[in-house]
This record gives sequence, C-alpha cells and structure tokens, in this order.
Amino acid sequence: MDQNRVIIFDTTLRDGEQSPGASLNVEEKLEIAKQLARLGVDVIEAGFPISSQADFDAVKLIAETVHGPTICALARAVPVDVERAGEALKGGKRTRIHTFIATSDIHMEYKLKKSRAEVLDMAVAAVKQAKHYTDDVEFSPEDAVRSDFDFMCQVLEAAIEAGATTINIPDTVGYSMPWEYGDLIRRIIARVPNVHKAIVSVHCHNDLGLAVANSLAGVLNGARQVECTINGIGERAGNTSLEEVVMAIKTRADLMHVYTNIVTREIYRTSRLVSDLTGFVVQPNKAIVGKNAFAHEAGIHQHGVLSHAQTYEIMDPRDIGWERSELVLGRHSGKHALFAKLEEMGYTDLSAEQKERIYQRFKDIAAKKKDISEWDIESIVSDEIHQIPEMFHLEYMHVVSGGSTIPTATIRIRKGDDILTASEIGVGTVDAVFRTIDAICNVPHSLVDYSVKSVTGGTDALGEVTVRIRDGGRVYIGRGASPDVIEASAKAYLQAINKLVSRVPDDDGRLTGQRMGMAEQEKMTV
Ligand code: KIV
Ligand code: ZN
Repeated sequence: MDQNRVIIFDTTLRDGEQSPGASLNVEEKLEIAKQLARLGVDVIEAGFPISSQADFDAVKLIAETVHGPTICALARAVPVDVERAGEALKGGKRTRIHTFIATSDIHMEYKLKKSRAEVLDMAVAAVKQAKHYTDDVEFSPEDAVRSDFDFMCQVLEAAIEAGATTINIPDTVGYSMPWEYGDLIRRIIARVPNVHKAIVSVHCHNDLGLAVANSLAGVLNGARQVECTINGIGERAGNTSLEEVVMAIKTRADLMHVYTNIVTREIYRTSRLVSDLTGFVVQPNKAIVGKNAFAHEAGIHQHGVLSHAQTYEIMDPRDIGWERSELVLGRHSGKHALFAKLEEMGYTDLSAEQKERIYQRFKDIAAKKKDISEWDIESIVSDEIHQIPEMFHLEYMHVVSGGSTIPTATIRIRKGDDILTASEIGVGTVDAVFRTIDAICNVPHSLVDYSVKSVTGGTDALGEVTVRIRDGGRVYIGRGASPDVIEASAKAYLQAINKLVSRVPDDDGRLTGQRMGMAEQEKMTV
C-alpha cells in the first residue's frame, strides 16, 4: 500500500450505533452501509455479532451485499465472540475480524478480573482463532491510552506475531491530549519490533472534544488507519468525526502529506442519511456538515466571498456535495423528469412500485410547493424507502387551533379492515394529534424526543419531524416529511408506533434490533 494513504475505517454502524438512543434496524444499517461504500470508505465495521441476533443479521447481510469496502465484525477476545463474528462474515468477499481486550490495569482488575498473563494469552488466542476465518485481523488493546506502556507493547507484539495485520490504539475514554496521543503512536512504532508487519490505527473518543485532533496527531506520527463515524456519533461525546478528519487531511495536505480515498462529494449526503436514520440532528455549527458551516451572515464576509470565495472559505462547499441545484423540478415536471433526476442522484435500485409511489408523493407536494429541490426529493425518497409494515395507517386528519381555541385533533386511522376515529384536545396542536393517535392505537410507550427541522428555507419548505418513543429498554424512531409540520408529526409518531408493534422477539428472547450496551456485554463471562 502507498505509504501516504490513510485507510478510513468507518465504525458508524458499530461504535456509532452504541450512542444512547440510536437504534437502527437491519434495513437501515444496510442502507447506510451502501452509502458508506459510495463514500469510498475502506472498511465498514458493520456490528458486533455476539451482542444480538439483529447485529449478527446486519453484519451478515452487509457482508453478503455490500461490495467494495472490507466488511468488519467486532469480537471480544473470547472464542464465542470470534466464532460468531466469523459466522456472520462467512458470505463476504473481503472481511475482517476486529478483536479486542483491555490492557489497562483498571480494566483488567475491575472489569475483566484477569491477570496480565491471562490477558496476553487471550489476545493471542483470539487473533489465532480469527485467522481461521480471514487473513485480515485487527487487534485492539482497549483503553490503550491508560495502559502500562511496556505491557501494552508486549501484547501488541504478540498479537502481530499471532497474525494481526492491523493494531488499533483506542483512547477508549477520550482522555488523551493531541501531543500525548501522537507521542504514544510514535513510541509504539519505535518500540514494537514487528510493527512493520501491521498497519497502526487510531481510535479516539471525543470526551474532551479532542478526538479529531488526536487522530490527526496519530497520523502525523505514523498511523495509517483512522477509525471514525459519520457526524462523529458514538457513545458519550462520540467518536472521531469522519468528515472532519477527512477534510482536515485534504484541506491541509500541505502539512499532513497524506491522503484518503474518500469521495468527498458524498460527505453531505452521507451525513444527512445518518442523521435521518438515527434521528440525531446535526448541530448547526458542526464543522463541515452543520447547516451554518458554509453560511456567511456578516455583510463584510458575504461581500468578500462574493468577490473571491477564498477570502473567507477554506473549503469549497461543492467538495463535500453541499450545493444542490435549488430549483430542480416543479409542478409541471412529469414522471420522466423525476425518474431521470432519481437516477442522477444515485437512486438506481428503486423498484417500479417505489418509483410510482415517489411520483405520487412528488405530485402531492408539488401541488402545495412551487419548486422542488434535490433536498426535497431526497426527503421524499428517504420517507419512501424507510416504509415499514403499517398496522396503523393514517387516513384522515383535521386539526383546529388558534389564539382563543382549544387545540383539537380529529383523526381517522385504518387498522386492517377497521376504521378507527377519535378526537382529543391538547396543550398545543401536536399534543392534541399525539393524544388522539394514542387514544386510537392504545399502544403503551413513553415519548422520549420530538424534533422538527426544515429541509430547505422558505415557509413552504418540507418539514421533517423525528419522534423517538420508548417501550421498556428499547427506543423506536419515526420520521415524517410534509410541507405541513402537523401532518409530518402525525406520520412520524405513527411510524414509531408501527415500528414498536412490528417488533419480533429474536431467539435470545430479546427483541430484534435490541442489543446489549457495553456494560451488559462486559457482564458476559469472558
Ligand atoms: O473505544 C474502544 O476502545 C473501542 C474498542 C472496541 C476498539 O471501541
Ligand atoms: Zn470506541
């Protein structure tokens, strides 16, 4: 491999999906994996197969269907995990097993209750076992940053000797400073005698807001793989953000002297997809993909950018696929124009029925909204491809609101052959709508979160609503898009309820899609 190329290892579907409240089903994970392949990531860590049947299924499906990137599965350094990871990856062309065990004293004593010698043996055994399934094996000494340096290097050397082709150095708790982490990578490369047989990888958490800085420091000191997630999602404060690290490497190539194979024009679209499906709205001031990342409010800045973009812009927004033609289709556009646009936008595997339904939605929206942008089309498509079986279907809705009126909703829902109607009042219109839906559906749950955002500017913009509901330990996310935010809210709420009622218990008695948190995983005997 070219010495200056940095491998981008995306862990959105594994470490990212560990974010509290993120809960992707298998189809959603597959869709993200396909987009990650378009983005050009080198490795997709698709899940942790031992953690749930749903994670196993997702890894298996992605390994079988997504080609291009290497598909990776996570496994603790224990035989059952490695076996399950190997099983899940069986149908894949290019696969990797990523096995890990903690090497810090605090983790070994309080979590694993294992001695250094035991941990060393387990690491070696896991790598050797993983080699039976694939040549490509990654090993991570968890909590590397807080590990005893000599012991960790001993484990890394043994793991490489056993066949590890990548050694990953996690800052599991996001504790390190950039110069310290960079120095750690430099010292590992200087100390581990067989390190040249493996790629050194960085894996940083963002507890101090330093994950990207630490990853870049690692690269400057010789690491050639960065583990990261889209929008930086992940447990606690998240992981290294893929878009930030990639654009930093590209924009400051003069200092970094390395490159990635990321197709940067796919960044914005990937960010939106992950945000839509996880329901995690990207903060407006987020670097690279936030709504304001390229917005110039101050008159002096606007003037400068108009005369010469580089006066205030260090990156071209087109490089991350930001600019989409605003006015692409209108109410007079026919099927042909819409279908050609869908192809151009990369939606090449839609079925004829899906295209027809998208066209109907497009017509409905075009009747209310004059100009339809690519973002609108993307929102309609996203709504369509995330349809799930509907036990409850919204047939009709009427709301009354106003300064001196009590907000009231009247809703009709079809459930199989039954038509159910109810009317309720609420504190506001959305509250009235949700109460009416609850009265009809009678599905116990609690509302965790409700958020609205507009797809484009203007009062006729499509409103996208995300709703999160909880039943027991499981969160269900619903999304709805419409020029009418009340209708979008009703759709989103019903979608979340439909997801809840369509759950299927898996063979462990857990619900499909439900997975163990890290704490629960650690409780499993190692
Ligand atoms: O942060 C961490 O230590 C991890 C390991 C599993 C690599 O995610
Ligand atoms: Zn991690």
